[in-house]
Amino acid sequence: MAICTVATMHAAVHQHPRRGSVPTPRHRVRAVRGIAGATRATVTSEPDASSTAFWDYNLLFRSQRAETSEPVQLRVVEGAIPADFPAGTYYLAGPGMFSDDHGSIVHPLDGHGYLRSFRFHPDHGVHYSARYVETAAKSEEKGEGASWRFTHRGPFSVLQGGHRVGNVKVMKNVANTSVLWWGGRLLCLWEGGMPYELDPDTLETIGPFDLLGLADEAAAAQGRGAARQRQRRPWLVEAGLDVATRLLRPILGGVFTMPPKRLLAHYKIDPKRNRLLMVACNAEDMLLPRANFTFYEFDAGFGLVQKREFVLPAHLMIHDWAFTDSHYVVLGNRIKLDIPGSVLAMTGTYPMIGALQLDPSRQTTPVYLLPRSTEAVASGRDWAVPVEAPSQMWSMHVGNAFEEDLGRGGLDIRLHMSACSYEWFHFHRMFGYNWKNKKLDPSFMNAAKGKELMPRLVQVAIELDKRGACRRCSVKRMSHQWNRPADFPAINPSFANKRSRFIYAGSASGLRKFLPYFPFDSVVKVDVSDGTSRRWSCEGRKFVGEPVFVPTGGGEDHGYVILVEVRTTTYMKVPTSSLYQISKRIFKMYH
Ligand SMILES: [Fe+2]
Repeated sequence: MAICTVATMHAAVHQHPRRGSVPTPRHRVRAVRGIAGATRATVTSEPDASSTAFWDYNLLFRSQRAETSEPVQLRVVEGAIPADFPAGTYYLAGPGMFSDDHGSIVHPLDGHGYLRSFRFHPDHGVHYSARYVETAAKSEEKGEGASWRFTHRGPFSVLQGGHRVGNVKVMKNVANTSVLWWGGRLLCLWEGGMPYELDPDTLETIGPFDLLGLADEAAAAQGRGAARQRQRRPWLVEAGLDVATRLLRPILGGVFTMPPKRLLAHYKIDPKRNRLLMVACNAEDMLLPRANFTFYEFDAGFGLVQKREFVLPAHLMIHDWAFTDSHYVVLGNRIKLDIPGSVLAMTGTYPMIGALQLDPSRQTTPVYLLPRSTEAVASGRDWAVPVEAPSQMWSMHVGNAFEEDLGRGGLDIRLHMSACSYEWFHFHRMFGYNWKNKKLDPSFMNAAKGKELMPRLVQVAIELDKRGACRRCSVKRMSHQWNRPADFPAINPSFANKRSRFIYAGSASGLRKFLPYFPFDSVVKVDVSDGTSRRWSCEGRKFVGEPVFVPTGGGEDHGYVILVEVRTTTYMKVPTSSLYQISKRIFKMYH
């Protein structure tokens, strides 16, 4: 059975060109659920018991031992695919291999990248296929036949079998974090290494795609290698950090095989300019109170259009980010070194990420507004000084950001995003990873008092005056109706970088007695204009992945939210044909 890891995956949709227009139905909900394979499995009753809940959760992260190289036709078993559902391919990236054959279980974030595709044909046939990304790490860890032996620790994991103590093979590019369709190329990305290119039809791995090398070559050829824009700090501090950087780089590169620049897995697409935006950090940033961000903008053919580099006087860890017409926006998640954790991490008996800890010493969230446009660069605003949002948040994902002219040179910047509490987020316990007992126990992510600490949808509003000084900054929940945990915010992609009204997110109904908040079982649609919300939830013990909005043209909410629904309930008998069992729902939300 193919099981998707619902909390760690990111998706992309590539719509095929339309052949003629189809009227868009409105004010109705259509749902389909397709299950590949001819036989529907018999299901036991689904008791909401603690043991069932934990078993279900652990099944979510069961390793995929098989690939589906030859596309399998999915069978619609409920409802129908809507007539106006566009032809195209829904790609879903995530980890697929968590346990090897020698006793090691890795953190979900260290699982080998497994790409799924759902191809929707114009005649409404749907084909499913899935393959591993053939990374260098996979070729090393996958032996003959079906055998696996993990040799790289991965930044979040501890190995049980294999070489454990003194193992410096930490960084493992598993291409498992997100998938990008751009410029006719299909790329799987990982937080810290080169993207891998795959054939969009067969999902065969073509090889690493050196995007940053491409960008640096282009910048050099154009004679505009980005000048480093540095913040001002006492020279002695900067000199000390320069020395530390020179010492760390050969260690990180030579010993831990880290590339000098870490490309973040979250990318942005600016539909106004038809550009792909990406950002990279320096390898040593994780260990030093100095953050280097290099932003790249590519045209539709991967030609470099713009490259800007910034150095910030802070120790930060960034997963997602935002942009507007004038700015790149970084919400600073504050971290610091954990000295005891560092010592343990070096021994191999503790996850390497344990060398870091969150830094909750300040009750605000720094929002860095880094100049993107030439006008913003020329404004002279001191971008190294962040706007301090009046709420401590650990930023998770950004659904949209935009700016509007307030008149007389002022600017209103809005961010629609998800954020959690510093108390809830934990580097190596995320997803309940426990390398000692080899079980995933997400109890702490479901603590009763934790509901308010979990990821939630928020709006950050910043007003700048004509000199770029912050006049006002506020943080508020995006919906007064929906106060349950939510993450993976998504919008109609053609409304990115402009005022958008509707946002969709994975969420928790809270109806389950055990593990009520994580993993998610719902999708919520929030109308940002008035804070109203609508919810759709799975039935029984099923879970949802990240929602993606597929527009059909017309208004902002004309389209479909597509996501994978995962059922993990124990089967009384599992017929062979259910090996490819995938549940998915497609529905159109009301407006
Ligand atoms: Fe993410």
